[in-house]
Amino acid sequence: MRTVFIGLSVDGFIARRNGALDFLPEAPEDHGYEALMASVDALVMGRATFETVLGFGGPWPYGDKRIVVLTSRPLDVSAIAGRVEVMGGDPAEVVARLAASGAQNLYVDGGATVQRFLAAGLIDRLILTRVPVLIGEGIPLFGPLPGDVRLRHVATRSFPSGLVQSEYAVEPASR
Ligand SMILES: NC(=O)c1ccc[n+]([C@@H]2O[C@H](COP(=O)([O-])OP(=O)(O)OC[C@H]3O[C@@H](n4cnc5c(N)ncnc54)[C@H](OP(=O)(O)O)[C@@H]3O)[C@@H](O)[C@H]2O)c1
Repeated sequence: MRTVFIGLSVDGFIARRNGALDFLPEAPEDHGYEALMASVDALVMGRATFETVLGFGGPWPYGDKRIVVLTSRPLDVSAIAGRVEVMGGDPAEVVARLAASGAQNLYVDGGATVQRFLAAGLIDRLILTRVPVLIGEGIPLFGPLPGDVRLRHVATRSFPSGLVQSEYAVEPASR
């Protein structure tokens, strides 16, 4: 199972153009993040998301979870040696390599990364949490696709803060 679990503005952006996340709630009520993290074998994120997380400068937020950072360029992770693996290659290669090392359940994170996995038919489930704000422009979650990706609505729940979370399964024919 490969899952996208992500917060976005109602107009579909996961960050401002400069990467800022200030429009996301700082301390949202429990909307399933911890449960999802506990259920996955690894978190696969794009380099830009990784750099954002490092830029927060706080304690390492992922505990002992296996973290895989995707990039096509050299990436110096010496400051957090042993906590992350760096990988490149197309999404199918990444998935195959991770499966061979025992990681089947993946949390896929980052805008460009999610778009590449979706285009490659490698996402099974989308859990989208809409934050009640329009920001006009930013880094979009979705982008061009080689064909339609059919989704089956699984559930929608809303939270007192105004977050609205919808879960979709990607129809098998779209994978
Ligand atoms: N709202 C939320 O919940 C949420 C969640 C996650 C991230 N974000 C935000 O979204 C922004 C980042 O999104 P983004 O779309 O800019 O980027 P991203 O997906 O985090 O990173 C994109 C980069 O990942 C690398 N990459 C992705 N797939 C690859 C592959 N198969 N092989 C090799 N390299 C691969 C490439 O790096 P190279 O160019 O180095 O090759 C690519 O430029 C940040 O501001 C982050 O904070 C928000």
